[in-house]
Amino acid sequence: MAPAVAAYRVRMQMDAFEFNKIVGATTGALMIFLVITFGTEMYFDKKKHAGHGDGDHSALAYSIEIEEEEEVAEADAEPEISLAALLASADIGKGEKVFNKCKACHNAEQGGGNKTGPALWAVMGRDIGVADGFNYSGSLPSDQGAWTWENMNAFLTKPSDWAPGTSMAFGGLRKAEDRANLMAWMNSMSDAPLPAPAE
Ligand code: HEC
Repeated sequence: MAPAVAAYRVRMQMDAFEFNKIVGATTGALMIFLVITFGTEMYFDKKKHAGHGDGDHSALAYSIEIEEEEEVAEADAEPEISLAALLASADIGKGEKVFNKCKACHNAEQGGGNKTGPALWAVMGRDIGVADGFNYSGSLPSDQGAWTWENMNAFLTKPSDWAPGTSMAFGGLRKAEDRANLMAWMNSMSDAPLPAPAE
C-alpha cells in the first residue's frame, strides 16, 4: 500500500471518529437541554395549576353545563273544578288544536273515513264502538252504552285504564282542561251535539 493512501485512510478514520464525537456531544447536549426545558415547563405549569390566588383558572376549568330539568307541573294535582264547569268555559278553538294529537289516527270530519282509529264525526253521544266498517279490539266497554261526557272524559284521561286492552295506542290527556276543550270541539263536529252536562 502506498504511504499516501495509508495516511489518507488514517485521516479518514480520524475524521469518522471526530464526527462521531461531535454527533454524540451534540445529541447529549440536546437531550440535556430538552430535559431542562421540559422539566422547567412542568414545574411552572404545576405552579400555575396549583392556582395561587388570582390565577386565571378559566382555561382549566371544564365548563359543565347543567341542564336544569324543568319540573313539569304535575297535572295530577288537578284543581277541584267540575267537568261541567270546565265544559262551560271550554275553548273550542283550543280543543281543535288538542285534536292534533289524534289526527294521525282519526278523522273527525263529516263523512270522514276510518283510519288507524274509527271515524269520529258525531262521536259524542254515539254508541261505543259502532263506527261502520271499523275492526274494534273488543276492549271498549260497550256495556257503558254511549260516549257521554263522563265516559269520554274517563277514556281520554288514560285509554288503557278505562278500556284495558284497547288497541288505541295513546297515553292519554292528563290535563282536565285539554280534555274539556277537546270534547267541546268534538261535540261541535256533529249534526246533533250533546247538551252540556248538568252541574
Ligand atoms: C295511535 C293511533 C291513535 C291515536 C293517536 C288516537 N286514537 Fe283513538 N282510537 C284508536 C284506535 C285503534 C281505536 C279503536 C280502539 C279499540 O278498538 O280498542 C280508537 C278509538 C277511539 C274512540 C272510540 C270511538 C268509537 O267508535 O267508539 C274515541 C272516542 C277515540 N279513539 C278518540 C281519540 C282521541 C280524542 C284521540 C286524541 C286525544 C285519539 N283517539 C288518539 C287509535 C288512536
